[in-house]
Formats: sequence, C-alpha cells, structure tokens
Amino acid sequence: MRLGSLKLDNRYFLAPMLNITTAPYRRFCRKYQKVGLVSVPMLYTKRIEKNPESIEKDLFKIEEERPISVQLIGSDPKALKKTIDYLESYKFDVLDLNAGCPSKRAIKAKEGGYLMKDLENLKVLIQTAVKYSAKLISLKVRTGYEKPFNIKDMAKIINDSGIDFAIIHARTVKSNFHEDALDLDTVKRLKEKLTIPLVGNGDIINPISAKHFIDYTNVDALMIGRESMGNPEIFTQIHEYFTKGKRIPFEKDFVLFKKYIKIYEDLIDEFLNGISYPISNEEMKFKELKRNAIWLSKNIRNSTTVRRDLSKAKNILKLKTIIERIE
Ligand SMILES: Cc1cc2nc3c(=O)[nH]c(=O)nc-3n(C[C@H](O)[C@H](O)[C@H](O)COP(=O)(O)O)c2cc1C
Repeated sequence: MRLGSLKLDNRYFLAPMLNITTAPYRRFCRKYQKVGLVSVPMLYTKRIEKNPESIEKDLFKIEEERPISVQLIGSDPKALKKTIDYLESYKFDVLDLNAGCPSKRAIKAKEGGYLMKDLENLKVLIQTAVKYSAKLISLKVRTGYEKPFNIKDMAKIINDSGIDFAIIHARTVKSNFHEDALDLDTVKRLKEKLTIPLVGNGDIINPISAKHFIDYTNVDALMIGRESMGNPEIFTQIHEYFTKGKRIPFEKDFVLFKKYIKIYEDLIDEFLNGISYPISNEEMKFKELKRNAIWLSKNIRNSTTVRRDLSKAKNILKLKTIIERIE
C-alpha cells in the first residue's frame, strides 16, 4: 500500500508502545514477516528541547528500520518546532503526533489524550509539524476524550490539516483499556468523512478480529499493539488470512520458544554494538530479554510456572539457565 509518497509492504503496522516496542523488539517483529510500518514510541518534546543529545540514543541506527515512524508528544508548539529541527537530519519516514496518551502525566501536561479536548492547540501543533517537518506527518487520536468527538469537527481538522494519514485507537481517552469500550462506529463514521487514509487500532488479537475491524469500519490499514507481545508472527497470521483465507495456528512449542529467544538475543547484541547505556549494555540486554522471554512463553506448556520462574531471574546467567531447562 502507499501512504503519501511512502510505499509499504502491507497494511499491518506495529503500534508504538512505550518501553515495549524498543529497537530490538521492532527488529524481532520484522524478522519473521513483513510489517508495513513500525514506530518509535512517544518522545517528549519538552525533554528533547532541554536535552537534544538524548535523541541520539532514541534514534540509534534508525535508518536500518525503515519504513519507520517517530512519535512525538507535547503541548508546546515551540518545543515541537525545536524537536523537529533536531530530528530532521535523521533518516526516518513519518513524524507522528500523539493525541491519545491517557496517562496522568500527559493529561497534567495538557498533551497526548488531553488534545482530544483542546482542539485549538491540536490544530496549532499539527500546523507546526506540517510547516516545519519535511517528513510525512500522521496524527494518532482516540475516539474522543470522555465521549465520542463530533465526527464532522474532527474530520474537518484532519482533512484541512495537510497531514498524510491519521491513526485512531478505537476508544476514548477516559475509557482507558476497558474491553467493552471499543467504539468501531465512531471509526467507521470518521472514515466515511476523511479524504486521507485512516489506520485503525484497538484489540486486534487475531485474523478474525482484524477482518472484523476492516469490514466494519473500512479503514485503510491496521495497527497492532499488545497482541504482538509474545506473538511476533501476528502480522503474517493476519496477512495469510486476508490473502489466502488460511489460519496459521500459534505453535505451542518450547523448541520454537528457544529459537525465538536465541534470535532475540542476537538481535539485541547486534543493536547494542556501537552504543553504551548508562545502566550498562549487559543490564539493558538482560531486561530486554527477560521481558520478552516472559511474553514469548505465554503459549508453552506449564506457562504459568515458567513465567513465574523467569520473572524471578536476577541476571542473564540465571535467565538462560531457566530457559535451557524448559521442555
Ligand atoms: C504499555 C503501552 C505503552 C503504550 N505506549 C504508547 C505510545 O508511546 N504511543 C502511543 O501512541 N500509544 C501507546 N500505546 C497505545 C498503543 O499504541 C495502542 O494504541 C493500544 O495498545 C491499543 O492497541 P492494541 O489493542 O493492539 O494493543 C501504548 C500501549 C501500551 C499497552
């Protein structure tokens, strides 16, 4: 599919998830399949304004991950402009504006999800990004703050803004992650009014829910977040279902689990080569591998016990010993 001038392998994208979709994680998802677009999770414009050098770590080797989007969160147009100036020389494809984060911190700072009720500032921030960035621009919204937004107003903001595409997480900011809060009607009605592509997101956990989302709303692409944690092949599963009507079962196999871990470890090593983290690269590697080992073990035999054991590991050696014993 195409998004503006960007040609993508498919219409299934990895959602930005802070502290989860790290560079090794994104590379791991891409290892198994084509993923249309991946994202660097939210970077705070206020932080970058004060400490521009910090971008170097956030965007280390980013050119190897294209096509890739970088997401910014903030409420101050000046900080956004400065951040864009610092970012422009990096080789990435899309600059995404976060207008959906529900965290207390974001709402207090009048950024992220708060922008769903501060449409004037939302417009200013979008204008700033469109004016000063040469990258494609996208906007990630929710279906409203407390209640669904006015479709006509939101469609107008998006259509008039000059951005290249929009992404919508199909629930309001205040509904947080409650299961029953997915609102595909608002997504469908917004899609009908938009003149640019819309990417749909929220609770896509298998090919069936992916198909339902597309059939119901007619969105142009899908973004998948939490299901990819522990199921790195979700994108292929969805793609195969759409193209061939085939369902690929998730293999509950400890051999596969160990293969995943080995590949993940190699990807972390490859990524860390050439950078030093203050907490030490060894510690970074341990934390990254442990988190993902826990998720990846969700489908193997005795997973509850395995996960409990993995979560107790205090260093990489212990972690590897536990993994070796799994059968
Ligand atoms: C731990 C966590 C961190 C997240 N971080 C971000 C973020 O940095 N930026 C963003 O736009 N959304 C963020 N999200 C929201 C996801 O991108 C996505 O919209 C949400 O998880 C719904 O999709 P899903 O049901 O496929 O997980 C985060 C979600 C989780 C669970």
